[in-house]
Amino acid sequence: MKRDLRRLLDLAREDIEWVIRTASRLKAERKSGRSSKPLEGMSLGMIFQKPSTRTRVSFEVGMVQLGGHAVVLSGDQIQMSRGETVADSARIFSRYLNALAIRTFAQEQVDELAAMADIPVINMLTDKYHPCQVLADLFTIYEKWGSLEGVKVAYVGDGNNMANSWLNAAGMMGFDLCLATPKGYEPDQDTIDSALKMAMDSGATIELMNDPKKAVAAANVVYTDTWVSMGQDQEAKKRLEDFNGWQVDQALVSLAADDAVVMHCLPAHRGEEISAEVLDGERSVVWEQAENRLHAQKAILILLIREDAKTLFQ
Ligand code: CP
Ligand code: NVA
Repeated sequence: MKRDLRRLLDLAREDIEWVIRTASRLKAERKSGRSSKPLEGMSLGMIFQKPSTRTRVSFEVGMVQLGGHAVVLSGDQIQMSRGETVADSARIFSRYLNALAIRTFAQEQVDELAAMADIPVINMLTDKYHPCQVLADLFTIYEKWGSLEGVKVAYVGDGNNMANSWLNAAGMMGFDLCLATPKGYEPDQDTIDSALKMAMDSGATIELMNDPKKAVAAANVVYTDTWVSMGQDQEAKKRLEDFNGWQVDQALVSLAADDAVVMHCLPAHRGEEISAEVLDGERSVVWEQAENRLHAQKAILILLIREDAKTLFQ
């Protein structure tokens, strides 16, 4: 049975732990010049309906490092842009590729592609979720703290695809999450509800609030993301006004734990959601975080493409 990564909830908690462990191993292998090629001769298709720097390069290079290769398809250059259905496209891609990744607007498009394709489908970002990013972020936190247990994450800013993905992650993995957004910019209610429900089993403490100072108090990780996501450019002026006072700056970070790190999925907007001083400062781990996309995604690709992934990397 093929597996997809349409959203983080497609994985089990043990899968996420495996991805973190395997990412760590693949990173160490790469640094020491050793490398295995578990995806030799395999091909990944990547459809982009929105721009990308990190995701595109890290997936493409990741496939090559694993012995395979990637075919990058710009949304406006494939026949889907001229009306070929998602279902027909999914059938075609399944005949050529070993996995298909897509960055698009509607989550439903990923869901439909996954339902129609015989190969694993990976969500490389939708308006709703960014599961590959949050998996790399969990790996980054694990590298720093050695565990997710007992770690408090404060997310400050827009209740967007990253906020939804953090809710998924906390609910599943059982760490503490304080999520602060301005009123009217909360994450999606269905995602909040499912995270709170999962928290009853996982032991996560999930709090939603409209006070950034309260959210970051004693936090080990201070996380933020852009105030204007892709596809929201027409709302930019209003959003910049509504988020006034919500910048992650030195004063805010000083309220976090003494050894707190600052994370941002990037691209960052210095002087908007984060000050230059913080982004470029000593607590920032954003460059390591960006590198970790590469290793976490290699683990994701192996997990989804190789049925024997867990025997291969125990
Ligand atoms: N963080 C992230 O997904 O970056 P890109 O938009 O550059 O892929
Ligand atoms: N929330 C941002 C994330 C970019 C990686 C966006 O969707 O544009």
